[in-house]
Amino acid sequence: MPDVTETLRETALRDIAEAADAAALDAVRLRLMSRKGEVAALMQRLREVPPGERPAFGKAVNELKRDLQAALEARQAALADDAPSGEAIDATLPGAWRRLGRRHPVSRIIAEVAAIFRRLGFTVAEGPDIETVRHNFDALNTPEDHPSRDPQDTFYLANGDLLRCHTSPVQVRYLEAHPPPVRIVAPGRCYRRDTADATHSANFHQVEGLYVDAEVSMADLKGDLHYFARSLMGPEVGIRFRPHYFPFTEPSVEVDFSCHVCGGGGCRVCKQSGWIEIAGAGMVHPNVLRAVGCDPEAFRGYAFGMGIERIAMILHGVEDIRWLYENDLRYLAQF
Ligand code: DAH
Repeated sequence: MPDVTETLRETALRDIAEAADAAALDAVRLRLMSRKGEVAALMQRLREVPPGERPAFGKAVNELKRDLQAALEARQAALADDAPSGEAIDATLPGAWRRLGRRHPVSRIIAEVAAIFRRLGFTVAEGPDIETVRHNFDALNTPEDHPSRDPQDTFYLANGDLLRCHTSPVQVRYLEAHPPPVRIVAPGRCYRRDTADATHSANFHQVEGLYVDAEVSMADLKGDLHYFARSLMGPEVGIRFRPHYFPFTEPSVEVDFSCHVCGGGGCRVCKQSGWIEIAGAGMVHPNVLRAVGCDPEAFRGYAFGMGIERIAMILHGVEDIRWLYENDLRYLAQF
């Protein structure tokens, strides 16, 4: 009787080894191991075996069953390893396409402004959104009765601090920590108690600029801003200064770019003036230098500040500032 188990073992192992794929192997498995398969049939023949030899026969069949099971599993694993070079992957199918995100227009303009000023030797500085009255107003030479100090205009916290209403306090923080020469741009969020409409938002962004050294003049300010204007808007763009007032600069100016839509002739975008207001600027007030322990006889500087959303709106023809914040991808994906 041992012969029958050995005969079956021989053919079964050969068939398993020769199974060319998973389906063929399954057929072999069924033929050998199912309830009415060849191994079960062998066990049925236990009755024909003389009683004295039955234990040995049973043991032999059980060993055969165990060995075939192991051989089946090994062959199955080998076929799975081969599969990638076979039918499982079709290398001619197009790859899976993942939609790429893009940067928000406000972030993109901040990055671009920083990149332009970096070429002029500026570095990027940052300051906190929650500021002290000293950094946001006092050290910036802001009069006690200046309207921007009013709780109607600025968000105050219970402890007397506030949400900065401009990025100018970064000038103060930076000069407190770094003796001149200083050349920085400082982008960041600002907060004002404005009711939201097409051109106002209680939360917006500015970029501050500050250049302090032994010899800095209004001509540097104008030259650097003109370079900035041409880098941002193209070589045709001109700039002009209009006299203005800011507490932290003297003299102070407002800075206009010539309208990039009509080239200065007058159109709807520039309200027929040919010019678009972009920034506030001026020569750093001696009191600001004094407030940070910097000698106004030894150093002078220029400063400027501009609204990022305003630039985004002008560059991209965004008619309502709120469109920048509604997070509607159908809108933002255009930029
Ligand atoms: N802080 C001013 C504002 O929010 C903008 C500004 C004007 C910044 C003149 C400056 C400056 O640095 O010199 O309206």
